[in-house]
Amino acid sequence: MDDLIRRAAEDLAAAKRVTALTGAGISSESGIPPFRGKGGLWERFDPMEIAHIDALTRDPAKVWRVLVKEMKEIVDRAKPNNAHKGLAKLEKQNKLKTIITQNIDGLHQVAGNTDVIEFHGSFAWQRCMVCDKKYETRKVDVSEIPPRCECSGILRPDAVFFGEMIPTDAMRRSRQAATDCDLMLVVGTSAVVQPAAMMPVIAKNAGAKIVEINPERTPLTNEISDYLIMGKAGEVMNRIIEAMEKI
Ligand code: OAD
Repeated sequence: MDDLIRRAAEDLAAAKRVTALTGAGISSESGIPPFRGKGGLWERFDPMEIAHIDALTRDPAKVWRVLVKEMKEIVDRAKPNNAHKGLAKLEKQNKLKTIITQNIDGLHQVAGNTDVIEFHGSFAWQRCMVCDKKYETRKVDVSEIPPRCECSGILRPDAVFFGEMIPTDAMRRSRQAATDCDLMLVVGTSAVVQPAAMMPVIAKNAGAKIVEINPERTPLTNEISDYLIMGKAGEVMNRIIEAMEKI
């Protein structure tokens, strides 16, 4: 591991344009459970029953009761951890340009990153399913489920459900950020959900180094990634930043 930390520090020091692709694992040290694996959300719930657009359309109250209310409580309390802060430092050092995140928790922005593409939308806002009016999630009154718009339409998270398209602008900008970088950090994603999992492939084909940080192997490991640093994102990022300071 020490060798890989040093290698990542040297690769980052040499890189000119870094893009990061992040997933649920980067927020797990902030107390937000991931989707897959042990303790993951999809161990407790069938995503097709609560996170598919058809489920939301069929029974929005159920989706709110089972998924959204709990998520709101968790996200409202969560704070950036050392991995988010490490990426913010890399932006300050003018290394990291763009983060493509599959997360909807907004923690990269709280940590201080300014160019964050929210590939799966955001939980910071709810929008009316009838008139599209947007409401800040933290101000939405959840004493009655599902909460409603002033037009009486039901509110839904401004996030991408299974079966929905990735917002066109997020898709276009992510492809660009993947094509333009010379190093991509892939942090805390199982890399099984498309099209997000294509971004490291696009970066690799454009000539970038791919560095993965994850306690587990993923489909990218040994195929697309140059190397995997096995460990928790917060701890690994701290050690990489420390090692960069010694170069
Ligand atoms: P997953 O839950 O699929 O994967 C989380 C990854 O984080 C796994 O590979 C874990 O090994 C890793 N992990 C766990 N703890 C970690 C830690 N402390 N540090 C670093 N890595 C850690 O989450 P995503 O890949 O983000 O989509 O899932 C992609 C999409 O699937 C989500 O955006 C969501 C979900 O269904 C939608 O809702 C549309």
